[in-house]
Amino acid sequence: MDVCLSSEQQPGRLQEAPCTPDGCLEPAEGGPQEDSTNGPPGDPNKIEPSLRSLQKFVPTDYASYTQEHYLFAGTKIVIQESIESYGAVVWPGATALCQYLEEHTEELNLQDAKILEIGAGPGLVSIVASILGAQVTATDLPDVLGNLQYNLLKNTLKRAAHLPEVRELVWGESLEQHFPKSTFYYDYVLASDVVYHHYFLDKLLATMAYLCQPGTVLLWANKFRFSTDYEFLDKFKQVFDTTLVAEFPESSVSIFKGILKWD
Ligand SMILES: C[S@@+](CC[C@H](N)C(=O)[O-])C[C@H]1O[C@@H](n2cnc3c(N)ncnc32)[C@H](O)[C@@H]1O
Repeated sequence: MDVCLSSEQQPGRLQEAPCTPDGCLEPAEGGPQEDSTNGPPGDPNKIEPSLRSLQKFVPTDYASYTQEHYLFAGTKIVIQESIESYGAVVWPGATALCQYLEEHTEELNLQDAKILEIGAGPGLVSIVASILGAQVTATDLPDVLGNLQYNLLKNTLKRAAHLPEVRELVWGESLEQHFPKSTFYYDYVLASDVVYHHYFLDKLLATMAYLCQPGTVLLWANKFRFSTDYEFLDKFKQVFDTTLVAEFPESSVSIFKGILKWD
């Protein structure tokens, strides 16, 4: 797994800070002082939703964590990462996609946009999309949801107009049951570095297609390493009208925009 990138290679990445045994959910510095999310001060609903969502997920039990610092959308973001899981590390596709989102916020009309991220991992992309004003649902496998939820809350509480939601979404598994088509519409489906050496590439592509409806734009950022990455891209192009929208040669990341073909 190629995750050991230098600060220069990772757009938006700041210097690593010493790890602290930080169990609190104080929002990191730099956010607005007032919580515009849940109503006026004193409103009993003001804090409860975030506390409720905190209780929903069991903390992910990694033996060691680091805290990595990023800067996107003018905001310092602190991500709790662990090298013990692919889903607990920020990959290069994520930093590239965050850079793309912050540079194209108005063009993409992100304010209040409905976004679902698949394979969100430790959550950097979902955090940045939330800070940029979108209504985000971050999804992943069950075992990474605790850390994902922690990072989302820590970085969006009192900073984002819409608190992001966390949901389990296993590619190709019981989608109709957990995400009935009649219950959702997403303006954007986001995916970063979800294509690598795993056995679920067909299910991944089917899931990408399933989540798109007319008008949905899929933004897929990926570091291209292996022939299988290009094979997936060929299949992707059969299913989606595909445009290359950004390239990051220093990290070999490309970002594609996909619109589902309907005929
Ligand atoms: C390489 S990591 C990328 C994480 C994050 N998107 C990033 O770029 O930093 C791949 C992510 O896909 C998730 N994943 C892998 N297989 C999956 C599956 N079958 N269903 C759902 N998520 C899966 C992993 O848990 C992990 O979070």
